[in-house]
Amino acid sequence: MAQVFDGKAVAARVLGTVKAEVEAARARGVTPTLAVVLVGEDPASKIYVGRKRAACQEVGIAARDHLYPQGLGEADLLALIRELNADRGVHGILLQLPLPAGLDEGRVLDAMDPAKDVDGFHPYNLGRLLAGSPTVVPCTPAGVMELLDHYGIELKGMEAVVVGRSRIVGKPLAHLLLARHATVAICHTRTRDLAAHTRRAELLAVAAGRPQVITGEMVRPDAVVIDVGINRLSSGKLVGDVEFDSVSQRASALTPVPGGVGPMTVAMLMRNTLLAATRQAGLA
Ligand code: GUN
Repeated sequence: MAQVFDGKAVAARVLGTVKAEVEAARARGVTPTLAVVLVGEDPASKIYVGRKRAACQEVGIAARDHLYPQGLGEADLLALIRELNADRGVHGILLQLPLPAGLDEGRVLDAMDPAKDVDGFHPYNLGRLLAGSPTVVPCTPAGVMELLDHYGIELKGMEAVVVGRSRIVGKPLAHLLLARHATVAICHTRTRDLAAHTRRAELLAVAAGRPQVITGEMVRPDAVVIDVGINRLSSGKLVGDVEFDSVSQRASALTPVPGGVGPMTVAMLMRNTLLAATRQAGLA
């Protein structure tokens, strides 16, 4: 049976450190502040935003809500982003994705001040990551790396396969693994023989956004498997992109859903917000 990585526990440690540093910043007159922007009524997004706000509360970061359940036109959203860019009391902007249909994610992210882009999705920040000198790393990939480091996974020379090529997870995660000297392949919806790739992986990171697409026979014995997916089945059950039962029979380690990568993402957002605040206030 695979070791189950405890994302909740590792995230709690990170949050403890962030909390102490937020207190230190506040003692110096700086309250790290995150603007939380949610457009539309995507049920999963509402849950994620709720978790992020709760984490802010826990570590002492001020959260300012900009919630538009009825939707918001692109011009108005761009105007809001510009207003938040100019507001010196706001250090970080969380624009929860996906945006409702009709809003161009790329255009809105482009409008964000890269210094306040605590998700690390702005092309400037993604470019710095690619260049090997990141200033802010997207939260989910950063959380995956933190988890791997916590459990002492030696990445140098490792055969790593990332399933998924999103801006949010797959692409940045592949680059982070590459920067740590793993040999990285990226698979996606057009990959001809997914299992042929996944079976070679010593580290398999799955961010496909499809429930339980990775099954036990697709996994190399003793692989470390990171499940980034969160999917709700019609039965109401929450599952990852990895079939937990069969994969846990073969893998050496596996992240659960829930309680794996999810809490790490939230913890990394808190760390990124703290860093943005200390940089903007000249404390870092
Ligand atoms: N949607 C799914 N994951 C994320 C994330 O990490 N940040 C934001 N802003 N939206 C997301």
